[in-house]
Amino acid sequence: PDTAWVNGRFLPLADASVSVLDRGFLFSDSVYEVIPVYAGTPFRMDDHLQRLARSLDALGIADPHGIDGWRALLAELVEVNGGGDLAIYLQVTRGAPSRRDHRIPHDVEPTVVAFCQTRAAPDPEALAAGLAAITTDDTRWRDCHIKSTSLLANVLAADAARAEGATEAILVRDGAVLEGTSSNVFAVIDGRLVTPALRPTILPGITRGVVLGIARAQALDHAEVDTLTPEALRAAEEVWITSSTREIFPVTRLDGASVGDGVPGPLWTRVRGWLQAGLHD
Ligand code: PDD
Repeated sequence: PDTAWVNGRFLPLADASVSVLDRGFLFSDSVYEVIPVYAGTPFRMDDHLQRLARSLDALGIADPHGIDGWRALLAELVEVNGGGDLAIYLQVTRGAPSRRDHRIPHDVEPTVVAFCQTRAAPDPEALAAGLAAITTDDTRWRDCHIKSTSLLANVLAADAARAEGATEAILVRDGAVLEGTSSNVFAVIDGRLVTPALRPTILPGITRGVVLGIARAQALDHAEVDTLTPEALRAAEEVWITSSTREIFPVTRLDGASVGDGVPGPLWTRVRGWLQAGLHD
């Protein structure tokens, strides 16, 4: 996939660029989405587009395309990139005014960038091993429900995880587990599936919503909880992270110790099966 869309036209990704005055570049004054594509079909595209609309609204950026425009644009983007299994990345910035100034300009057109990356199905061996995660202090701002590109705290936390031989950092604020640097968090505690209840410091993940939908449809014992402590997470039978790129991934080591038996748990196996069965819906 090597064709990008920038402000109204397709061009080779290697040639795609935006102005150095773009407010996305200067101030992270921008929002984004990552939409998985299975065999050429975006999964839950409308949920992603609705979240994009909410993010744009939160920043007061006028939606440059509207839901039908986005649908048509993304269909074309997938097609020119050959379809198959992809992840669409799309970003809308405030735009590029003629000078750098913190104050929001009201006479610029938003910048729209979209491109695709290959998205391999999770490797069976990697899934069977699960991944290692750490818990760490959440130093992000308080409006993480907006899918903004202000991701420096996420990037640094992810790198702290890497430095400890782990793949994901799970962010903790005021004694409560919130989410991963690029994922939501689920745990199985005393047989019940739990995830932190939404609040402004949590991104309402599309995959999180899909998993909760499965839990409802399958009448699993489940709850969105106000406080999931890191201690409870470490003592859980199962821990999973969810995201559009990782689907539902088992966490088998947390803060250097095994989660449960140290292998992906039985509820994960079942819920993943249901998710897989619905991925082409
Ligand atoms: N990230 N929480 C955060 C902070 C995220 O960045 C993401 C996704 C999620 C999961 O949301 P969803 O299920 O809608 O993908 C939760 C994307 C994949 C990324 O930044 O690459």
